[in-house]
Amino acid sequence: MTRVLYPGSFDPVHNGHVEMVETSARLFDEVVVAALINPAKGDGLFGLEERMALLDKCFDHLSNVTTTSFDGLVVDLAAGVGADFIIKGLRAVSDFESELQMAQMNSAISGVETLFLPTASKSSFLASRLIREVARLGGDVSTMVPSAVSEHLIDRYSS
Ligand code: PNS
Repeated sequence: MTRVLYPGSFDPVHNGHVEMVETSARLFDEVVVAALINPAKGDGLFGLEERMALLDKCFDHLSNVTTTSFDGLVVDLAAGVGADFIIKGLRAVSDFESELQMAQMNSAISGVETLFLPTASKSSFLASRLIREVARLGGDVSTMVPSAVSEHLIDRYSS
C-alpha cells in the first residue's frame, strides 16, 4: 500500500490543486492533502482550519483522500501520517528551482523523498496569489476554483 502526502498552502485551493489530487488518487492507494504554513507567504487570507475545511469539501468525492492541517515541518507531518513520499505539482519551469530546493532539504533532514507531477496545461496559469488578487478586486474566478471556494471568496471580500 502506498500513502502519499500532498502538502501546500492552499490559500485557497484551486482547480490545479484539485487536478493534482485526482491524479494522485488514481495513482496511489491513499492521499493525505495537508494545508501548511509557507513562511515565505506571510499570514495569508484564510486560517489553516478554514483552508482545511475547504479542502474537506473539495475532496469529499474521493474515498482514498483525507485532509489535515499542520503548523510545523512537512517532514514531521509526513512521518506522523506514515507517508511513503511527498507529491508536488510543477506548473512551469519557474516552479522547479524552489521545489527542487525544498525537496532536497526535506530529503536531507529526514530522508523523505518528493515526487513531482506535471499539471495539465489548462491549469498551468492558476496560482492562489492571483486568484486572491482577482477575487479581491471583484473579478470572476468561479471557473478556476471549486464552487465552495468561490462562495467563500465572495463572502470574504463582500464583508
Ligand atoms: O503551496 P506552497 O506555498 O508552494 O506550499 C509550500 C509548503 C507549505 C509545502 C512549504 O512552505 C512547507 O513545507 N511548509 C512547512 C514548513 C516546512 O517544512 N518548511 C521547510 C521546507 S524545505
